[in-house]
Amino acid sequence: MQVVQTPKELKALRDSLPGSVGFVPTMGALHEGHLSLIKKSVEQNDHTIVSIFVNPTQFLPGEDFSKYPRRYEADKKICELASVDILFMPEADAMYHEDEVIIKAPKAKGYILEGHFRPGHFDGVLQVVNKLFHLTKPTRAYFGKKDAQQLYLIQQMVRDFFFDIEIVPCDIVRDPDGLALSSRNVYLSPQERQKALLLSKALKRAAKMVQSGEYSVERIKAKMREILEDIKLDYVEIVDREFEPIENVVVGDTIILVAGYVGSTRLIDNIWI
Ligand code: PAF
Repeated sequence: MQVVQTPKELKALRDSLPGSVGFVPTMGALHEGHLSLIKKSVEQNDHTIVSIFVNPTQFLPGEDFSKYPRRYEADKKICELASVDILFMPEADAMYHEDEVIIKAPKAKGYILEGHFRPGHFDGVLQVVNKLFHLTKPTRAYFGKKDAQQLYLIQQMVRDFFFDIEIVPCDIVRDPDGLALSSRNVYLSPQERQKALLLSKALKRAAKMVQSGEYSVERIKAKMREILEDIKLDYVEIVDREFEPIENVVVGDTIILVAGYVGSTRLIDNIWI
């Protein structure tokens, strides 16, 4: 595995790779969720590039940018063992210039849900992913469904900017007790971790309601809010796969999303129905 830090080195190495290239962008502190994306990329492509970059532009003032877990040595080992070909670990000043051309997330879909509670977050995500796509020129790029709205907006960006990249959505990986894996789970105390299970419990309950024939978004959301009463919620929402609001769940075209705080840790989770 080659570890590179500058865009110039990355471009030169990438251009030397024959065949298909899979790309897995991450912010590091790698866990089984990331590993599932990497494994899929290694399976489906001749070469795999992983990036680890805690991207400052997607954090709002007051968010956890400075305390976001950084585990560079452990992450390198994980990538090496997973047969990654190139690991890109840039510094922020190699990725950004002062007063640079910026990308804005679309007004409607980029500023609802996550974008409403973290306004500007998706501008930063799209900005950095756009740069990373230009540097890595992947055949396929791998994103987790846990960040469902991010995945949707990246698919939009690929369409809008005519990128020739296949976006591969990957299933959420959960701990055996149901908690969706996230690099931010390390912030949780044992008691908070227990409380955090309410998120997946509420989503499971919602899925069960649908299975037993309850399609009303209003009633499903009411039940979820009951289960989640001990959590300071940002939102419980049910949308279609285009992130449009709906009144009734349509199996195969619905995502149920939840976001809230357990202590001071903000967690998100969702289920695709
Ligand atoms: O999902 C993430 O980890 C980040 O938002 C991404 C896609 C690596 C961009 O910084």
